[in-house]
Amino acid sequence: MPIQRLLVTQFRNLLQVDVQPSPDINLLYGQNGSGKTSLLESVYLLSLGRSFRSHKIKPLINESASELTVFGKSSAASIGITRPRRGDSQFKVNGSRIASLAELTRSLPVLVINSDTFRLIEGGPKERRQLLDWLVFHVEPGFFITWKNASRCLKQRNAMLRRDRIPYAEFHPWDRELAGLSQLLADYRCCAFDQFKAVFLSLVEEFVQIESLTVELEQGWDTTGNLLDILEQHFDRDKKQGFTGTGFHRADIKIKVGSHKAEEVLSRGQQKLLVCALILAQCMVFQQTSGKNCILLVDDLPSELDDKYQTLMVNWINKLNCQVFVTGVDVLALSEPWGKMVDRDIKVFHVEHGEIKHEERLALSETE
Ligand SMILES: Nc1ncnc2c1ncn2[C@@H]1O[C@H](COP(=O)(O)OP(=O)(O)OP(=O)(O)O)[C@@H](O)[C@H]1O
Ligand SMILES: [Mg+2]
Repeated sequence: MPIQRLLVTQFRNLLQVDVQPSPDINLLYGQNGSGKTSLLESVYLLSLGRSFRSHKIKPLINESASELTVFGKSSAASIGITRPRRGDSQFKVNGSRIASLAELTRSLPVLVINSDTFRLIEGGPKERRQLLDWLVFHVEPGFFITWKNASRCLKQRNAMLRRDRIPYAEFHPWDRELAGLSQLLADYRCCAFDQFKAVFLSLVEEFVQIESLTVELEQGWDTTGNLLDILEQHFDRDKKQGFTGTGFHRADIKIKVGSHKAEEVLSRGQQKLLVCALILAQCMVFQQTSGKNCILLVDDLPSELDDKYQTLMVNWINKLNCQVFVTGVDVLALSEPWGKMVDRDIKVFHVEHGEIKHEERLALSETE
């Protein structure tokens, strides 16, 4: 479901932008501060209802404007977002206000690779868990409601833990529910993870020789035991720390080389390539399982990967039949790895002072 038209007004330095992207590959180049990342952000906003740079929408409104708007049209849906400086955001899909942001995400699945994504391996479990949950959300219809119920239950349990003198007996019904929902989420995650793992490892094997690389899902508790019993056993510890230390919310993807954590032995370049493989595996499994296409945003690839790794990355992306937006400062560095993709529809846009112009001549020809 590629975006056919994107209209953006008063979004950071993008005052009025109207682009008709290629359903295939879109290369956006321009100087620092010209508005490249802002354009990717506007597409991300259409999918997630927030930016990848900030959880607040207000900083996205142009500093001299009273509201921003983003409108995106794909063959499947039209999505419109308005955010006034004072007041709440309005999200519409096909002209109707939506009840939950999940509707946006379902209408326009978007994945992003940027400098933050490259911290996926060395960072904490939250981002890796979110990576898997994005996939599970899209491929397992029951996941979202189960996750919402489990999160509500967890919040209630944590609030009770912080109150004094509540005996364990009063926790028991909550724990039973939390344990049941955690197990359901674990089953959903496990199913999607098995497919994800196979695709991820085959991608990596194809291009990088990393001996004894393993990737495993940890569900957030010792699954040889029963979570209900574990919650009871750890009740005193949880009470002392004021939050629940075991359950679905502690799941993680462990990436190791032999017995070492990946970040302890791999070079920065290898780690970055692994991160790309994680995101592209997510994209591939999503497309295979749902039969839909997703949109891939890649911010400033040339500054993140050297030429060899960029070419590998471009080869991977080329296997995906999805719409891609890639940014970079230098048009030649950006275009070079795409030069061999003769069968792809590549559009080049020049971003300058918040204006975006489609270049008729393909910048690729300059590289020949
Ligand atoms: N709310 C805002 N109102 C007006 N301008 C803003 C706002 N927020 C950010 N900007 C400006 O918008 C410009 C575009 O930023 P953006 O991050 O999109 O640039 P970029 O092309 O990705 O640059 P780089 O190559 O350095 O990553 C910057 O000059 C930034 O200072
Ligand atoms: Mg940028």
